[in-house]
Amino acid sequence: MLNFADKLQDNIFTTVSRVCREMNVKVFVIGGYVRDLLLERQSKDVDFVVLGSGIAVAKKIAEAFGRGVYAKYFKNFGTAMINVGDWQLEFVGARRESYRRNSRKPIVEDGSFSDDQRRRDFTINAMSLSLQIKDYGQLYDPFNGLEDLKNKLIRTPLDPDITFSDDPLRMMRAVRFATQLDFSIEVNTFNAIKRNKNRITIVSPERVIDELNKIILAGKPSKGFKILDETGLLAIIFPKFVELKGVEIINGQAHKDNFYHTLQVLDNLAQKSDNLWLRWAALLHDIAKPVTKRYEKGVGWTFHAHEFIGAKMVPSIFRQLKLPMNERMRYVQKLVQLHLRPIALVHEVVTDSAIRRLLFEAGDYIDDLMLLCEADITSKNDVKVRQYLKNFHKVREKLKEVEEKDRIRNWQPPVSGEIIMETFGIKPSKQVGLIKTAIREAILDGEIQNNFEEAYRFMLREGKKQGLKVKKIVDNPQEKSN
Ligand code: CTP
Repeated sequence: MLNFADKLQDNIFTTVSRVCREMNVKVFVIGGYVRDLLLERQSKDVDFVVLGSGIAVAKKIAEAFGRGVYAKYFKNFGTAMINVGDWQLEFVGARRESYRRNSRKPIVEDGSFSDDQRRRDFTINAMSLSLQIKDYGQLYDPFNGLEDLKNKLIRTPLDPDITFSDDPLRMMRAVRFATQLDFSIEVNTFNAIKRNKNRITIVSPERVIDELNKIILAGKPSKGFKILDETGLLAIIFPKFVELKGVEIINGQAHKDNFYHTLQVLDNLAQKSDNLWLRWAALLHDIAKPVTKRYEKGVGWTFHAHEFIGAKMVPSIFRQLKLPMNERMRYVQKLVQLHLRPIALVHEVVTDSAIRRLLFEAGDYIDDLMLLCEADITSKNDVKVRQYLKNFHKVREKLKEVEEKDRIRNWQPPVSGEIIMETFGIKPSKQVGLIKTAIREAILDGEIQNNFEEAYRFMLREGKKQGLKVKKIVDNPQEKSN
């Protein structure tokens, strides 16, 4: 009998154990916390199963922890959540669940401890540790979860057709755990996902995307996408992404398989950043390649304007997947649109003005754009990759230099529309816009310096060219306010 009492010495566990003993109710730690404890992964999310009312136990536990404890009771579900410091504790009475064909919502009845373990999704999530005095810390593992943990296997405790048909979200969870933990899905479980894949459509898109985001946030997300693809789930939940797949050959010329290329970019990026939205930008950066693909004689394969068309596709993809339609979506859109810009500079003698333009357009997103672009350098030819990365490094250096010198990021031209109007005594009009643009372009091109005096003098010349008369010379508003 394996015992992990030494791992359950925190006040959290000893208090839960004591209160339940006083109430004469048996209690076990179960699920993800046990799995993570055995894998030596840190977690502060604990599920407790009690042989009695989860809510009644949770109320007493909340009292025992005293002030500063936040408790929430879900009478309809018979569950309760308590936050103690940064611990999140969930209590539920042992239960048996049965399901109807078209719903994820189970019919819940009180059940025995072993019913409760049987209703769990995977063997590695069905293990529990006793908090009773007589066998404190003892592992209860009826489905050999520990063995599966050692062999790095995701397997359902019951017939997988039943487990997945009961709750199809578990198919996504299987892929998610395989990706997060770098496990394999046991072959019967895997084949059952293939058979039951269409059942995923009864799960709300919000829950599906939650799991997909966890896959995207894993250390090597490509693993999850490949499993999703092999099981057929990907074509159901994210068909646009599957369209990236495949290689066409004309006149002996092949293009990259954009599905695997994109996954490589995502993996590369995952090593540099945990930003979910930057990872989404990696996933979508080439999303318009299938619709822009052409074979041009004498040129080869082209994907003209795929960055612009891709950016245009982002909102509808976000809407379909129930991703947020807010500034995060716009961030992804902007990165998709600009993703070729830094790499284009690698080929050229990089001028200050090209760098200034890039800084101006990318604003605060410049660092993320550079990460995306660097991750996008993939090739089977190592020498080529190294050369590219070296040149890319030069672009980075240049960016730093120009940014320090000119401070272009999130920059507003030093002469505003109001100053133009005041100087020439004109109302808001197209002319004001034209002069503003001319000033901005002159600064970005390096024709004039980025300061009020030079910009103002330039503005006077530009106004004159357009036949405007000076009504008043305006001082630098910055100096007035100083
Ligand atoms: N569970 C289940 N079927 C689900 C969701 C959860 O059987 N669809 C069970 C599993 O035993 C799981 C436990 O409920 O371990 C807790 O679920 P949850 O907190 O969602 O997952 P964890 O396993 O704790 O993992 P993570 O915190 O990484 O999501």
